[in-house]
Amino acid sequence: MTFDHQGDAFHHLAECLKALDRGFEGLPDFSPRVDANAIRSTLLETADRLRENRPYHHPLYIGQMLKPPHPVARAAYALAMCLNPNNHALDGGLATSAMEKEAVAGIARMFGLEPHLGHLCGGGTMANFEALWVGRELRPGRAIAASAQAHYTHSRLSAVLGVPFVKVAVDASGRMDVDALKSALGSGAIGTVVVTLGTTAAGAVDPLDRVLALRSRHDFRVHVDAAYGGYFALLGNLGPAARDAFGCIGEADSIVIDPHKHGLQPYGCGCVLFRDPTVGRFYKHDSPYTYFSSSELHLGEISLECSRAGASAAALWATMRMLPPVPGGAFAAGLESCRDAALSLYRALDADARFAPLFRPELDIVVWAVRAASARESSERARRLFEAAEGLNLHLALATFPRAMCEAARPVETWDADEIVCLRACAMKPEHREWMPEILERLDRAAKD
Ligand SMILES: Cc1ncc(COP(=O)(O)O)c(C=O)c1O
Repeated sequence: MTFDHQGDAFHHLAECLKALDRGFEGLPDFSPRVDANAIRSTLLETADRLRENRPYHHPLYIGQMLKPPHPVARAAYALAMCLNPNNHALDGGLATSAMEKEAVAGIARMFGLEPHLGHLCGGGTMANFEALWVGRELRPGRAIAASAQAHYTHSRLSAVLGVPFVKVAVDASGRMDVDALKSALGSGAIGTVVVTLGTTAAGAVDPLDRVLALRSRHDFRVHVDAAYGGYFALLGNLGPAARDAFGCIGEADSIVIDPHKHGLQPYGCGCVLFRDPTVGRFYKHDSPYTYFSSSELHLGEISLECSRAGASAAALWATMRMLPPVPGGAFAAGLESCRDAALSLYRALDADARFAPLFRPELDIVVWAVRAASARESSERARRLFEAAEGLNLHLALATFPRAMCEAARPVETWDADEIVCLRACAMKPEHREWMPEILERLDRAAKD
């Protein structure tokens, strides 16, 4: 695979640029002053610098949560960049604001969240920040609770918002322990519970259905952080617990999903959705410089960020047009392949005496310890294996898990530490399914080194 092949969609750009130009035919001729030779040499120098990256685009990269954008997203982004619209206000991003509203409505439909209020933003951190901020406005002074495996952003954002943070214990599979949550709710101090559908480290799915059921006895908002896992709502091949959790996602008060994770988008594309459109009142502000061109909704009126790339909306809109996020569609089939890849990696590791997968993956992240006499030795072996694999161009990740999440897999005889550094693979490319034999062969060689 070469970048030339990946760039196929760029070959259509010349034709698309001409089509775009036709929209501005009435204008007198104008060419910006640029030095074509300097552009070429600078771009070649840029390519040289970019070679210093790991091969994130290739199936032998199965480490962190990185997924190549779809070619249509890259090309649509580049096309929109010729105008560089700003989705803050309609005046600066007329077409792309409409595209954003359509794309966001499509995501809300996928979750059964109708009506809704939502918009795109810089990413999962910003999207969660807005949801937690609205939660604070509705339950002033009350704490935010999230599981011990939730993304670190939730405790950090709680500090930024000036509200207490409550860490809720997890079970052996890294899911929120509902009994622990129940006793924390007893104090009445918690105003928002963050339910993670797809934790960052292990892809664990918190039992949303059971958390929602607690609302009959306690008053709290439910915020779903599905930054990584949200699109798995489309799949039919999840385990029963994950299916139950995703099945009621539309009952949450707010949801975060990152199209720049599993939604095939370039970075800079998060999305926050609210079930109650009237929360828009918390965003209310005036902007004498920008909200002059229309009485229709300017996206800046319902988001905390001001300037935002209209190109992100164009890329997401184009991708959803070509690959609608519907059950049984081509987009869902791509995700299903990721999950199949994760399951086949899990099965192979489970059958290998050298490794101890912590649990069966709920989505497409697999985590495993290296069997050893002690916890420290296991961590050391994992680090060595990570490096040896990298030497064979197999790119994995490392993640540390507490003893309580490792014990069931019995990776060690002696616990001389309270945690183990494990190997972690995010099988986020559909191609990982076909590449699994090659990945396993390289892992085997790295383990023999
Ligand atoms: C569950 C979850 N929430 C939030 C985030 C933060 O998102 P971002 O990196 O887009 O700011 C991540 C990132 O991996 C995540 O996995």
